[in-house]
Amino acid sequence: MFTRRVAVVGTGYVGLTTGACLASLGHQVVCADIDTAKVERLRRGVVDIVEPGLSELVTEQVSAGRLSFVVGAAAGVSEAFPDDLDAEIVFLCLPTPMGVGGVADLRAVEAVVEETRELLAAGTVVVNKSTVPVGTAGRTAELLDRRDVSVVSNPEFLREGSAVHDFLNPDRIVVGCDTAEAAERVAALYARLGAPTVLTDAASAELMKYAANCFLAMKLSYVNAMAELCERVGADISDVTEGIGYDRRIGQAFLSPGPGWGGSCLPKDTHALLQVADAADFEFRLLRATIDTNTRQRQRIVDKVRAAVTGRRTGSLTRVRLGLLGLTFKAGTDDLRDSPALAIAALLRQAGADLVGYDPALVGEPGNPDRPVVDEVDGVPLVTDPMEAAQGAEALVVLTEWPVFRTLDWVAMAGAMKQPIVVDTRNLLDPATLRRAGLTGIGLGRREA
Ligand code: UGA
Repeated sequence: MFTRRVAVVGTGYVGLTTGACLASLGHQVVCADIDTAKVERLRRGVVDIVEPGLSELVTEQVSAGRLSFVVGAAAGVSEAFPDDLDAEIVFLCLPTPMGVGGVADLRAVEAVVEETRELLAAGTVVVNKSTVPVGTAGRTAELLDRRDVSVVSNPEFLREGSAVHDFLNPDRIVVGCDTAEAAERVAALYARLGAPTVLTDAASAELMKYAANCFLAMKLSYVNAMAELCERVGADISDVTEGIGYDRRIGQAFLSPGPGWGGSCLPKDTHALLQVADAADFEFRLLRATIDTNTRQRQRIVDKVRAAVTGRRTGSLTRVRLGLLGLTFKAGTDDLRDSPALAIAALLRQAGADLVGYDPALVGEPGNPDRPVVDEVDGVPLVTDPMEAAQGAEALVVLTEWPVFRTLDWVAMAGAMKQPIVVDTRNLLDPATLRRAGLTGIGLGRREA
């Protein structure tokens, strides 16, 4: 099998997953990060992020001698491979946070290009995996200013919480480059996965990533709006989405209503694409409405809680104790970035409510420095047992779809509460179970809501 020497710069969830998975496909991989302590931990096989299967894969590939970690991009690209050889392909997996006015902040990418440009061997292919504005591959090539180095855009479509699975079972591989040879070299890295491969120009590859995430965001805003309409006309969103999902043009996936979409990708990418559109003098109204619908969803949840607890649409939440179940942006991750749960918590606090939160990913392990115990997030005190969140609460609000919430002892939870109300923003819990426990369950777009 043909293997390559691959450097991966940045060991966030994309970089580390890319590095470990490419190693598992037989390539020789060096992952570089500027965080010395993190590199030390990775060398010991300690993975900071919650990503199923990743720490096992890292340990396995390190022991197999195919994966190693170094401090700094410069150390990763030159002479880091056996026999002091240089990297043939360099992946940039760097943060591109939302900067001023929603424009992606490319400073990390620029700094790494600056640090490594003189060190790259002739013929190296630099691959951008980060989500970047259209035109970044061209700009990276300009910054590199090396005729003998190609720049390729190879966006990732990994979901947090199933990144390893998604990497190894991709729906497609996208490789964008103006040089066919470089594009084919990158595509060949993934050949063993047997996925459809789209070879295109760099700008189309860059836009494709935004197009995918924004389409997903639009799908969810549509579903959340439809759930609201269901409540008003007495229909049930689960039946509606099941029914439309059988249409293969729509599909069953990504149709669950919720507290709004969040995380480190969808919010950032929808804003960034809006900027791309603005800069191209294109008024992308559909995308703006997608974002506005999502922002509104948070207030809608607050209004639902208010109505449930006080019995009135304008009732006061001052000093009302509420237990929040789930604070991460979705289940299966400990990521709190742009979590709708935290945005809703902030609105509830503004409305005067006393909050207490529980999240299984934030419990930590006393005495384990790699899993510290967290006492509070964004001013929401955390407890280590869902029963404590229920204690004296006038309502419990389910904000993240952790499966473990389904099997809580709801009878005991009900017994601890001041008012037997559960607002289930994920339609996660079984309404009959709640009813049997004497609880009023309020979901989204449900007939009984
Ligand atoms: C998203 C995309 O799904 C990935 O394809 C992409 O690679 C990634 O962004 C990225 O750009 O790196 P991720 O942010 O991990 O992945 O999260 P998703 O699983 O897509 O969920 C996004 C948000 O939508 C979450 O807040 C989630 O709770 C919400 N959601 C998702 C729903 O409310 N309902 C659903 O049916 C699905």
